[in-house]
Formats: sequence, C-alpha cells, structure tokens
Amino acid sequence: MADLATLMADCAATVEKTMDLLLPQPDDAEARLFEAMRYSCEAGGKRLRPFLVMQSANLFRVDRRCAARVAAAVEFMHTYSLIHDDLPAMDNADMRRGKPSCHKQFDEATAILAGDALQALAFEVLAAPETHSDPNVRIELVKELSQAVGGHGMCGGQMIDLLTEKEPELNIGAITRLQRLKTGEMFAFASVSGAVLGKGSKRAYMALHNFAQEFGLAFQIADDLLDAEGDPEKTGKPVGQDAAAGKATFVSILGTDRARAQAHLLIDQAIRALDVFDETADPLREAARFVVDRTN
Ligand code: IPE
Ligand code: IPE
Ligand code: MG
Ligand code: MG
Ligand code: MG
Repeated sequence: MADLATLMADCAATVEKTMDLLLPQPDDAEARLFEAMRYSCEAGGKRLRPFLVMQSANLFRVDRRCAARVAAAVEFMHTYSLIHDDLPAMDNADMRRGKPSCHKQFDEATAILAGDALQALAFEVLAAPETHSDPNVRIELVKELSQAVGGHGMCGGQMIDLLTEKEPELNIGAITRLQRLKTGEMFAFASVSGAVLGKGSKRAYMALHNFAQEFGLAFQIADDLLDAEGDPEKTGKPVGQDAAAGKATFVSILGTDRARAQAHLLIDQAIRALDVFDETADPLREAARFVVDRTN
C-alpha cells in the first residue's frame, strides 16, 4: 500500500471536493450562516472519520462517489460537534484547527446555528438517492448516524463530560463509557458505514464495529494526552483546558504514562479485530497505529 500520509491526503482531497459541492454557497439573505458553516468545514482537520468511511467502503468495493458522500456527511456532523464543543457554555475554546473558533470568528448565535445546520445537512446528504440506490440502505445510514450522535451517543457523552467537571473522581469504567459515547460512537459509524453501503456480512460489520470501539477509545486518550502535553502550534487548539476545567479523563486518573500504555493496548486490540480482513484493511491498521502516536 502507499504510505498512510499519502492515502490520507488523497482521501482528504476527495472528501473536501465533495463537501464543497454539498455546502450551500453564501449568496442569499442567510449568507452569514453559510459562511460560518464553510469557515469551520474548510479550516482543515485530519479528516480521520472520512478516511475510515472511505477505507471501510473500499473493503466492500463500494462506489467511491457514494462513499465520499457518506464521508462528507460524517465530517459535517463532526464539525458541528466541534463548533458546539468550543462554545463558552461548553469548553470555551478560542482556537480550533489553527484558527479562531466559529463563535470567535462570527458570534455565538451564528456558531450555534452553523452547528445545527451542519447536522441537518449531514442527514440530508445521507437521505438523498445519490448516496445509495437502495432506500433501505439510506434509512439504515440515517438511523445509525442518528443513534451515534444522539442521547445515547455523542450528545450523551458530552453531557457526562461536562458533569465530570463537578465530579472529577469518576472511576475508569465511568470514564470509558463517557469516552465511548462522546467519541467512539461516531468513529463506529464511520467504520461500519462501508459494510452498510456494501451490504457486508454481519461478521464483517461486527469486526469493524469492534475495531472502532477500541480505536475510538485510544483516539480520545491520545486527545487527552495532547491536551496535557501537546503543542498548540501542532494541534491547532488550546492545551491544558481539561485540567483547568477539572475534567475527568484517562490522563487525570491514570497519569500520562499509564494512559499512553493503555492507548497502545487498545490499538493492539483494535488491529486484532481486523483479522477477518486481508491486506485490503492495511490502511485501517496503519491509521490505528497513527492515532496513538500522533502530535496533532
Ligand atoms: C477532535 O477530533 C475532537 C475529539 C473527538 C477528540 P479530531 O482530533 O479528529 O479533530 P480534527 O477533525 O482533526 O480537527
Ligand atoms: C470533544 O472532546 C468531543 C466531541 C464530541 C466534539 P474534546 O472537548 O476533548 O475535544 P477537543 O479537545 O476540544 O477537540
Ligand atoms: Mg469537550
Ligand atoms: Mg473541547
Ligand atoms: Mg480534548
């Protein structure tokens, strides 16, 4: 396979082109809203969830144009979650993806609306016939993504995350659940989406789901490590905010060394979950190795 950096850059270019086509052009009375949506989507980011979608789709030989639409939908959803996560009522972060966060560049009301509209756009894209000819597949995608981001998914996890600021002594089990919800569920959607699009076997679907569970948890531990000891020039967002807010994370409970060891353990498990696939899954294996040692 080509090296991971090249594969990720190619994928980002494809998905960014698709996002550009799907995002509304700011030429109407509501132009300010569209500018804010585009601002946050075009600020960059690793495009890791789109990469998982495209690689998962590749395992089932899904048409790349269909997969790119699902990848764009996931990135719209993810970007919405970041815009709202940065709001003063939540993490109150001034920088995101190396630029002023959406509410700093525009204002809070615009940032709230831009997030809302990106979430709606994600579902609109999944529901459109261009995403898959079979309406049952489209309904399945909408159902799975809504579950991934709803009360028992990302939003639920974000709620618990904020509550830990007042209860930083959470145990490992509770933190694991919180991280699985706030971060893991969206990675799980991205990872299984290829199996949904390509009508893969239950066994393949479950393997990808298990992969994503461990991957997502390791990813969030790495994010918490970057908050504790990362370089804001590289991450493009503030550091030290988790400790300042008194958030319970793997790092606050285990310390940095044990948290890093735990992340590596989880990644080994994630890679093992892919044993049912041949070398076509190598980019997913490489991506898993990348997430724990990343600096951005
Ligand atoms: C940040 O996600 C939010 C978390 C779930 C920790 P990413 O680290 O994937 O952010 P971008 O997309 O690269 O900016
Ligand atoms: C947020 O987690 C995860 C989301 C659902 C957006 P964090 O609050 O740790 O993400 P960063 O560090 O701000 O990117
Ligand atoms: Mg947060
Ligand atoms: Mg945050
Ligand atoms: Mg963080």
